Order: sequence, then structure tokens, then C-alpha cells
Amino acid sequence: MGAQPIQAITREKLRPLYEAAAGPSLNFLMDLIAQPATCTAWYWEDGTEAVASAWFSHVAGEGELIDIRVAENKRRTGLAGSLLNFALGELVGVGVTVCRLEVRQSNYAARGLYEGLGFETVGQRPNYYRVQEGREDAILMAVNLEAMSNS
Ligand SMILES: CC(C)(COP(=O)(O)OP(=O)(O)OC[C@H]1O[C@@H](n2cnc3c(N)ncnc32)[C@H](O)[C@@H]1OP(=O)(O)O)[C@@H](O)C(=O)NCCC(=O)NCCS
Repeated sequence: MGAQPIQAITREKLRPLYEAAAGPSLNFLMDLIAQPATCTAWYWEDGTEAVASAWFSHVAGEGELIDIRVAENKRRTGLAGSLLNFALGELVGVGVTVCRLEVRQSNYAARGLYEGLGFETVGQRPNYYRVQEGREDAILMAVNLEAMSNS
């Protein structure tokens, strides 16, 4: 069990995580990691099963979390926290000093996860996401990784 880099060969392994899931499609994400200079991703393997994945873009010291998800039957076991901690450590190792993300206002699970890892709210995009009835805001969050690695 542990974090592994996502490569083209991992696509089939990741498919169950992305079936019927909201958010970016697996095809979109796999296209991103075709540019390894600016996109890095990891998945968490439990036995032979991929149970979590996290995808980042990074340019000139700035990282952005593009997507993170955990298999429904594995949630609330600390997996997302472990994977994000691992990934942020790896990004620091390649010179990333700040990581940003955006999250739906109503996604309290994800917001709790990010806050627990030291992300702070730095802005809001009103009516950014489409929802069934209307729209909802995006919350913009960021963490200073220099502060984290020096503490
Ligand atoms: C958000 C998500 C990645 C969390 O994964 P997870 O492995 O269950 O999270 P963890 O077990 O590491 O939880 C870490 C912290 O996040 C918060 N959290 C996670 N799930 C939560 C929930 N359902 N309700 C409230 N807080 C929650 C808690 O603060 C938790 O710490 P605690 O268990 O000590 O209270 C998972 O729910 C998921 O895949 N959701 C669907 C995809 C998604 O929304 N991704 C984020 C896109 S921005």
C-alpha cells in the first residue's frame, strides 16, 4: 500500500475511480500528465487496486491541485490526507513553494481536508459552478509550502 506516480500505463487501474464521478474526466486528466514538465499525479494503491488519486499542475514554483478523489468505500480513513501530504512533500522537492486550489462552497468534506492540511481561503469566485438549480461559488484556497517545510 502506498503512493505511486501516475503514468499513461495506469489509466485502466484508475478507471473505476472515475466512473460516474463528478469533476474532471479521466481522459482530461490523462491528457494533462502527457506533459510531465507541468503536471504530476499520484495514486494510492491498496493491493492491486487504485483507491485514491491526486493530480497537480505546477509552473514556476506554483502548484495547483487539479483533482483529488478517494474510492467511496475507502473514505474517511485518512487516505486523502496521506496522499496530499505525500504529494505536497514531493512538490516541495521540485521547487514548488505555494499550492492553490478551488473547491465548491458546498464541498465541506474537501474543505475540511484542505483546512486540516494548512490551506487557507484566499478568495471566492461567485456563481462559478453550475449546479442542478442555479450556480454556486468557488472557494479559492492556498498553502505556503515554504512555511510548511520550515516548520
Ligand atoms: C474529499 C475527499 C477526497 C476526502 O477523502 P477522504 O480520504 O475521505 O479524507 P480523509 O479521510 O483523509 O479526511 C481528512 C479530513 O477531511 C475532512 N473530511 C473528509 N471527509 C469528510 C466528510 N464526509 N465530512 C466532513 N469532513 C470530512 C475531515 O476534516 C477529515 O479529518 P478527520 O477524519 O480527522 O475529521 C473524498 O470525500 C472524495 O473523494 N470526494 C469526492 C471528490 C471530491 O470532492 N474531491 C475534491 C474536489 S475539490
